[in-house]
Amino acid sequence: MKHNASSPLLTLSLLTMQATKNHPDLLTLLLSLTVSFLSLSSAAAAGTPSPPLNLLVPSDAVSLLSFKAKADLDNKLLYALHERFDYCQWQGVKCAQGRVVRFALPGFALRGVFPTDTLTRLDQLRVLSLQNNSLAGPIPDLSGLANLKSLFLDQNSFTGTFPLSVLSLHRLRTLDLSYNNLTGPIPVELNVLDRIIDLRLQRNQFNGTVPPLNQSTLKVFNVSGNNLTGAIPITPTLSRFDISSFSWNPNLCGEIIHRDCYSPSPFFDSPIPSQSPWPVSQNSRSQGVALSPSPKKHYKTGLILGFSVGIIVLIGSILCFFAVVRKQRNQTNSKPAMASSDVSANAGRYSPCTHNASKRRRIRAKCEENM
Ligand SMILES: *[C@@H]1O[C@H](CO)[C@@H](O)[C@H](O)[C@H]1NC(C)=O
Ligand SMILES: *[C@@H]1O[C@H](CO)[C@@H](O)[C@H](O)[C@H]1NC(C)=O
Ligand SMILES: *[C@@H]1O[C@H](CO)[C@@H](O)[C@H](O)[C@H]1NC(C)=O
Ligand SMILES: *[C@@H]1O[C@H](CO)[C@@H](O)[C@H](O)[C@H]1NC(C)=O
Ligand SMILES: *[C@@H]1O[C@H](CO)[C@@H](O)[C@H](O)[C@H]1NC(C)=O
Ligand SMILES: *[C@@H]1O[C@H](CO)[C@@H](O)[C@H](O)[C@H]1NC(C)=O
Repeated sequence: MKHNASSPLLTLSLLTMQATKNHPDLLTLLLSLTVSFLSLSSAAAAGTPSPPLNLLVPSDAVSLLSFKAKADLDNKLLYALHERFDYCQWQGVKCAQGRVVRFALPGFALRGVFPTDTLTRLDQLRVLSLQNNSLAGPIPDLSGLANLKSLFLDQNSFTGTFPLSVLSLHRLRTLDLSYNNLTGPIPVELNVLDRIIDLRLQRNQFNGTVPPLNQSTLKVFNVSGNNLTGAIPITPTLSRFDISSFSWNPNLCGEIIHRDCYSPSPFFDSPIPSQSPWPVSQNSRSQGVALSPSPKKHYKTGLILGFSVGIIVLIGSILCFFAVVRKQRNQTNSKPAMASSDVSANAGRYSPCTHNASKRRRIRAKCEENM
């Protein structure tokens, strides 16, 4: 027994030495692991028949009790275990075949934190609701809740960033994190939740842009009252929601909320009427650049298109300009009768206005207007 116990202990202490250099939090975890290992092995060595309490209590009850220990500082929940499956009758708990499938304590005035490694071990959980309590601190890693369909953590005082672990909960249909103090970006990876119906993130302090959500399943969506910025992507999914889903974000813009996006180009929002060829070409070029709020692919295409059109118009305009100048010179220098035939003859050979390439047809029309 002693022989078996010594080598894992050695490994543990080596691990402790390596890991705690970078993660001081791990020290406490590994220390407690070491302590429980020590007590286990000493109990076995002494030949005492009593195993630790944890081995008798069902693991789901352990998870619930360890949650209560940190999340219910005011002792609102009366959890006592006399019989093996008593925990299935505890407040907020519903079981199926002895496993917790639903845990809902809305508005129970719970005060404390949502500790890691507690409820997150309830791997048969379908519904978890802690809404409208006074839980603070970060939302722990929830990736153990692989069967979760509904998660309500709204109306608490949770801080920290968006809990990225929910992105691994592929069965999730409802995610409500509204009315907390969450910060940082709303992850673009939310698109992996392809069964999501209800996504409520309003009244936090999320910043950055609205991700281009594309789930056809999404029916309820709210990001109002955050600090989101930039253009709302125009996806079929996001287009379904109206202004009230996006309100109270002072720096959001875009077609969906009928607010123009600020453009650094002075020509974009109020195109100048084309009095001379120059502004026309500049305008079409800056429009290509100003497409930046849309995704990169479109941006590139827009840029190339914008430049091509700009260059074609520019070349056409220059050639037209010379043609006009030439015409005027001819009119002043030579006899009127000769001039007209001269010009048309010259134009036939040199001017783009009568060039027979089909590409130039539009330009010719423009030139004739100018002449
Ligand atoms: C929140 O819970 C409290 C009790 O703690 C209750 O009085 C209140 O109505 C609840 N609010 C909502 C919006 O459910
Ligand atoms: C968020 O934090 C601010 C202070 O940073 C506090 O005044 C506010 O009550 C908090 N909101 C919630 C919902 O906890
Ligand atoms: C979001 O806010 C954090 C501070 O809370 C800041 O560091 C970060 O740059 C902000 N991000 C954007 C995109 O504004
Ligand atoms: C939604 O967008 C993601 C990328 O953000 C993509 O991987 C996925 O295939 C898209 N789904 C649909 C239904 O368009
Ligand atoms: C929103 O973001 C801006 C700039 O990123 C920052 O100055 C401001 O304090 C933020 N407001 C809130 C409520 O987080
Ligand atoms: C979104 O949340 C705001 C509160 O921030 C609320 O006024 C608005 O009615 C909600 N809109 C939708 C569509 O849920």
